[in-house]
Amino acid sequence: MSITVTLQEKRVFAPSKDFVQHAAIDAKTFRAWQAQAKKNPQKYWEGAAQELRWKKKWTKVQKTKKGSMSDTQWFLGGKLNVADNCLDRHVEENPNRLAILWEGEPGETVSWTYRELLIQVQAMTAGLRKLGLAKGDRVAIYMPLVPEAAVAMLACARAGLTHTVIFGGFSSEALKDRINDAQAKAVLTADGGYRKGAWLPLITHVDTALKVCPTVKDVVILKRADVGGANRFKKAVGEVDGTSTAKRHDWYSLTGSLKADEVKKLGQPEWVDSEHPLFILYTSGTTGKPKGIVHSSGGYLVGALRSSRMVFDLKPTDLYWCTADVGWITGHTYLVYGPLAAGASIFMYEGAPTTPTLDRFWDMIERHRITILYTAPTAIRAFMKLGTQHPKGRDLSSLRLLGSVGEPINPEAWMWYRENVGGNRCPIVDTFWQTETGSIVISPVPAQTRAKPGSATFALPGYDVAVVDKGGKPVKLGSGGFLVIRKPWPSMARTIHGDPERFKTQYFTEFPGLYFTGDGARIDKDGYIWCMGRVDDVLNVSGHRLGTMEIESALVSHPTVAEAAVVGRPDDLKGQAVVAFVTLKADASAKIKNDPVAASQAKSDLRVHVTKEIGALARPEEIRLTESLPKTRSGKIMRRLLRELAVSGQVKGDTTTLEDFSVIASLQHSDEE
Ligand code: WTA
Repeated sequence: MSITVTLQEKRVFAPSKDFVQHAAIDAKTFRAWQAQAKKNPQKYWEGAAQELRWKKKWTKVQKTKKGSMSDTQWFLGGKLNVADNCLDRHVEENPNRLAILWEGEPGETVSWTYRELLIQVQAMTAGLRKLGLAKGDRVAIYMPLVPEAAVAMLACARAGLTHTVIFGGFSSEALKDRINDAQAKAVLTADGGYRKGAWLPLITHVDTALKVCPTVKDVVILKRADVGGANRFKKAVGEVDGTSTAKRHDWYSLTGSLKADEVKKLGQPEWVDSEHPLFILYTSGTTGKPKGIVHSSGGYLVGALRSSRMVFDLKPTDLYWCTADVGWITGHTYLVYGPLAAGASIFMYEGAPTTPTLDRFWDMIERHRITILYTAPTAIRAFMKLGTQHPKGRDLSSLRLLGSVGEPINPEAWMWYRENVGGNRCPIVDTFWQTETGSIVISPVPAQTRAKPGSATFALPGYDVAVVDKGGKPVKLGSGGFLVIRKPWPSMARTIHGDPERFKTQYFTEFPGLYFTGDGARIDKDGYIWCMGRVDDVLNVSGHRLGTMEIESALVSHPTVAEAAVVGRPDDLKGQAVVAFVTLKADASAKIKNDPVAASQAKSDLRVHVTKEIGALARPEEIRLTESLPKTRSGKIMRRLLRELAVSGQVKGDTTTLEDFSVIASLQHSDEE
């Protein structure tokens, strides 16, 4: 098994007649959309915006400051509320439609109709307002994957608060950085959650972080035992210890203590401008600390809704499962906002795919009759390794569509997914997009596109995608280059929180006038796009974005470390693995010399340190202690050499720019582990 995306240009899979016949979007509609998007993208997006409910209609579809695509606004003058679109309008149509079916890792389930979900969201909206939070305030959400996580997001949206969800796997350090950057006034969290059979105590991380988060005034804590609201009136307000000055509130005591007329009054939606920031989501880039990507309300939801309907073929009879956590963009757009805006029934699962049994995923699909599955290549490759007996042992006949996201999917994994999960029957949508794009950019439209395993196929209507050379010119069919988007689209990020200049330089200067994804791609003879992964210093480990600089900063913040360089090594399961080259300060270096036990201890200390600074997801797979790092004469670390070393253990190629040849020798013998 190899994760390299080998171009299999000739292998093509057409959707079955049955799928085409029953598709939510027929060929005629799709072709009309394509033609309109090409001719007049603003008209196309205006049509998509009409699928939402607006309190006040926009007066202008799009405005871009002259010559600067980075400065674009959509649906100007329009007013709406995202939660109203995700909840109220569906409740008015059919209050009893299933909104969320959730299963906890230990096995309990919660099922909420749209009406029940709305009641929860109204109560929390009122609760947040009662705490004094008001439009424009920022709120951090640090929760396990429980239905209340969606309530938290939607309640913020309803009250006009801007949320920032922080993945529960991030450490207290990472949490603190994000809370402080966003200047969050409140944190919505839980005492903990379950993962791989273990208890993850989230609240202890919050406690540690809040010692140095002066802006936070209130913390709302969900007791994991109360998920679903079953025990809501039995619990007293928990006085929980902690050293910060923030007030602590028990989730269901806060919402349950409100009188009906208070909920009615304080639970109303806040009508916000289309451009009002719905959320900030931190993501790794090529420099320093993660940056807070800001998304709008109107444009974002237009992109989320249109793509959810088009790519996932959503119908009222579906039970749709996106396996992403709310801490990532996929969990925002395709677990919560997109499908709920479409009125779909979503399935949500708290825990690990193989707990307590190796077939947990397939077991849940069989029991709940899940119809659409959207997951990451890393998960598929892990399932491949476990063997076909697990999916084969369950009845997966309810599935009708499969999706993949987050990293290139190798054709072997694509084929395995199709055969063993999709029964050779389900179309696969390989969806390329990013935190910054807000919604899917390149993907097959399941009933309309003939798929090639390993290719995300074509741009969706309304996204002007191109593969260009260094000069920004489109490459010829059959060649490779850089993936760019040439025109603004509604769900594009609006800025980086607190750093608008960086937003411009990061994405819009490499190719003037174009948005640069940071990815490389090939376009084959038939015009199919093959996304090949990042061409910058961003790693993709198990579908999670990590900046090499971010891990390097974490390493050099350890007192024994002098210098660190981090590179990615191709990994059969994770896509990429983190390899760190580290030089220690003189005294620490002397200690480990000729002492393998001390060296091994030093490496494990560094791994623990990275886990503390960022989270387990960034922990280096391999640490190589070395006397010095290979540098050019101008002092730049030669990453190419390090990458070669990480992959092969040896260096080939040109080394004449090396300042010190001896470092290569020391590198090659430095890792005894
Ligand atoms: C990569 C995740 C190939 C890509 C939605 C991008 C992909 C980064 C695909 C964004 C795909 C995502 N094929 N590569 N289908 N989907 N990527 O911001 O390198 O966490 O730039 O968003 O993931 O990661 P992010």
